[in-house]
Amino acid sequence: MSAASETLILGGGLMGLAIAHHLARAGGRVRVLSRRRQEAAGFVAAGMLAPHAEGLEGPLLSLGQRSLAAIPGWVARVEADAGLRCGLRPCGILVPFATAAERDRYPTAALGEALDRAGLERQVAGLGPRWQAGLLFPQDGQIDNRRGLMRALERACVERGVGFEEGGEVLALQRDGSGALEAVGWRSAAGRQELLRCNQAVLACGAWSGRLLPQLPIAPVKGQMLSLQGPRQALQRVIFGPGTYLVPRQDGLLVVGATSEPRAGFAGGLTPDGQRQLEAGIAALLPEASHWPPMERWWGFRPCTPDQAPILGASPIPGLWLATGHHRNGVLLAAITAELVGEPLLGRSLDADAAELLSQFRWDRFSSAAGC
Ligand code: GLY
Repeated sequence: MSAASETLILGGGLMGLAIAHHLARAGGRVRVLSRRRQEAAGFVAAGMLAPHAEGLEGPLLSLGQRSLAAIPGWVARVEADAGLRCGLRPCGILVPFATAAERDRYPTAALGEALDRAGLERQVAGLGPRWQAGLLFPQDGQIDNRRGLMRALERACVERGVGFEEGGEVLALQRDGSGALEAVGWRSAAGRQELLRCNQAVLACGAWSGRLLPQLPIAPVKGQMLSLQGPRQALQRVIFGPGTYLVPRQDGLLVVGATSEPRAGFAGGLTPDGQRQLEAGIAALLPEASHWPPMERWWGFRPCTPDQAPILGASPIPGLWLATGHHRNGVLLAAITAELVGEPLLGRSLDADAAELLSQFRWDRFSSAAGC
């Protein structure tokens, strides 16, 4: 990246901010173009750091593990630049099962600590009676994405000189005679249309990425969430149950997720069925939490690809880079995404392992994978 050239980041969500921060820390000139940062999946998610608890497999597990290892250093850099805390909490995640056989079939069973009912009760007092076996992943954790990470990352970007355009819309990608990126069409919040010249940009528009680059097979998977206010120390571990998970923040706020609604498209809003699913999940996992006062309810759209793994790296348009499709794992994967996409943008080479990992997430890898 030459000192004078500006990199445009298309999308002001977690991936866009993480890459902007990575580039700006290295002295790059960066501008983030964003429509509504509040609808970004980074604000919607529960903030689990759960490559093992989510049962990831193959290259996605490797990517998640590498990101998990990078997160403490990444968070420290964000916090140092922002002067704000991100709310990183390496609290471990408990996955409960109805039977030991289900537990032993779990894809990451070998990487967790196997528990029987007595072991589960030692981890979580008041766990629902349905659960007779479990896996504890002490290496997994959480980060307070809504109240901590997203705001700290925005602040860190500002402190590092990143420019922001908020409330407008990226309309099109313009290519030169050789097919390379030469400009981005942008309509500002005031309605002014302009062409922003650039030869380097990152597409990080989450569930909306396919609108700018239709070759990307990305579909929205709606998730509904809610939160409750529990007593401060009532729950120490995240509980990741089938269909519902409970994520206890340091101050007792309990974030509860999430429905998974691939057929909802971009239809926003809460639904009675979705909210009932979450409430039934709370009652099954931690019955006493059903009596805790409700705080907020919200929804958002996960960006899902046919193999449910992200799309990272170069695109069919020279100069345009991709950081999208993180589906259920965006918060976990932000740190590694910033590194794998940011380093080549800075003109630096990745080490052999990182380059090999990045190559697993190319945009054109989809031929026979099943859909979301
Ligand atoms: N990672 C949890 C979710 O997407 O619901």
